[in-house]
Amino acid sequence: MRSILVVNPKGGCGKTTIATNLATYYAVWGMSTALVDLDPQQSSMEWLRVRPKDENPIQGFNGLKGKIFPHADTERVIYDCPARTDSKKVARLIELVDVVIIPVMPSAIDMRVAASFVADIVGKVKESNGKAIMGVVANRAQKNYHSYKALNKFLKALDVPFVGALRNSQNYIKAADTGIGIFEVPLSEAKPDMKEWEPILNWVEGKRVLQAKIAKK
Ligand SMILES: Nc1ncnc2c1ncn2[C@@H]1O[C@H](COP(=O)(O)OP(=O)(O)OP(=O)(O)O)[C@@H](O)[C@H]1O
Ligand SMILES: [Mg+2]
Repeated sequence: MRSILVVNPKGGCGKTTIATNLATYYAVWGMSTALVDLDPQQSSMEWLRVRPKDENPIQGFNGLKGKIFPHADTERVIYDCPARTDSKKVARLIELVDVVIIPVMPSAIDMRVAASFVADIVGKVKESNGKAIMGVVANRAQKNYHSYKALNKFLKALDVPFVGALRNSQNYIKAADTGIGIFEVPLSEAKPDMKEWEPILNWVEGKRVLQAKIAKK
């Protein structure tokens, strides 16, 4: 079982969007997938509630209500964090997972919050769990990486990679409304979005060659 934590204390940066879309990717491929919502707002669980019955199933858990019990055959577990998670709590969560995804939007404020969050938890990741990999996904990204230049430099110094970028796309908004992910939208409409996930998925799955290629951008 591989577990993935989506976290950033900045609100609205795309945690739920990334967590739910990642869950649909695995579900589409027929993998037994669980989504754990750690946010009191329960946005991931709301999304799951409107999910069409004919789409592949995703197990949903309110992670704030005690221990979770995914099916024994569960292959992927995705944790959707709330905004304002403090770094001590994040450090405890990191002990549970294999992958930490930090979505960041291209505003100066968002990047400042992300930089100080990453700096704060990078040491904790190394201390608490040698196995977890941590990477940043640029969300609602501009066409070029220019606006992320300073953050990219900072991340490089900390040895945290930029693993990919997702454009601003109506497909995410439409999919979120109907409980699906972009991997369940017709290819003719969402191909550019799906393509952007390739390096991210490869990295999440531990394919380090692609990770290095993206980090150079
Ligand atoms: N790449 C994108 N393109 C278009 N809209 C997006 C994209 N990513 C996120 N959004 C939209 O931005 C809003 C905030 O995203 P989301 O809920 O995923 O953020 P969050 O980090 O989970 O927020 P919170 O901190 O409140 O939990 C949502 O309406 C979502 O549909
Ligand atoms: Mg959310």
